[in-house]
Amino acid sequence: MTPHRSVETLRWVGDQNGHLVIIDQTRLPTQVVEIELRDVEAVWEAIRSLRVRGAPAIGIAAAYGVVLGLQESGEDEADVWARLDAVTAWLATSRPTAVNLCWALQRLQEVALGHRGQGPASLRAALLTAARALHEEDRDICRAIGRHGGPLLADGSGVLTHCNAGGLATADYGTALAVIFAAHEAGRHLQVYVDETRPLLQGARLTVWELQQRGIDVTLICDSTAAQVMRERRVQAVITGADRIAANGDVANKIGTYQVALAAAAHELPFYVAAPTSTFDLSLASGEQIPIEQRDPAEITHGFGRQIAPEGTAVYNPAFDVTPARLIRAIVCEKGVIQPVTQASIAQCLNPSSATS
Ligand code: MRU
Repeated sequence: MTPHRSVETLRWVGDQNGHLVIIDQTRLPTQVVEIELRDVEAVWEAIRSLRVRGAPAIGIAAAYGVVLGLQESGEDEADVWARLDAVTAWLATSRPTAVNLCWALQRLQEVALGHRGQGPASLRAALLTAARALHEEDRDICRAIGRHGGPLLADGSGVLTHCNAGGLATADYGTALAVIFAAHEAGRHLQVYVDETRPLLQGARLTVWELQQRGIDVTLICDSTAAQVMRERRVQAVITGADRIAANGDVANKIGTYQVALAAAAHELPFYVAAPTSTFDLSLASGEQIPIEQRDPAEITHGFGRQIAPEGTAVYNPAFDVTPARLIRAIVCEKGVIQPVTQASIAQCLNPSSATS
């Protein structure tokens, strides 16, 4: 395996009175800068401004945000519970599409309920333990996704990915990139094509950086070049992450994913999605119901500080789109490879005992 510099996307320092340290992803790739988040407001801001981003990493950051939010909550049990409710409700507003955020917050609330009546100190300690467990679990989940998905990528093949679903978007190792890393570690040579991913360039800034760290051959392309590299047969497969997956297998992911999936279908190339089971939202029948984040028009008109459109230009800037299940060859999760992508196969994988077929 090629030596690489490990990426520690997030880390907690100290006990329940400690703080969270994250890599400020807005500064990559030119600066690798860690910042300390010492209160829940700082965590909310870091999530909203994409200093920490990617569905699983957002969930982990929010979990630690709850711990920070309760640090100054005093010793009155009722006050602490009111504060817990307020903090979790507020963190849930930081970004709307990645369901991992609410999933993580709900998990912490369940842990809190299990400690009701045991006093604020015990509750705070339990919440930190739960946040740490969620963080640790995500590492194992990413490795499992890599193990299941790695064999999908053949030696000598070209692979296209969009946005960043790597170690920076998770606790470690990633989801879509985990599949690529695992194939690479198994000795298969891959040529990875990365869409730059307008408007915030997660592909160019983050994915290229991560692949370079691991010594994987990577070529950056404009988003508009994706269909052309498929037509030229430079890629044999496409793999992306996901922010939310509905019960029928429709996938919300970074804007531009849908058109990549359409192009892959037109070129008869497999389009794979890799995501943990925490990204599935079985309460939504289809992708139509997934809330899509709308972001600041300035991300397009004044990207990275330079005005590139006339004053007053009307802008439409959804951060995510929905790829219908029919365009997805398989979804790789920590439990295995879901193929074909149907409501029944998803239910079977997620809840084998309750699925009907
Ligand atoms: O807006 P971002 O950068 O948070 O969007 C991230 C993505 O769309 C990722 O592909 C997705 O969260 C999967 S991360 C493992």
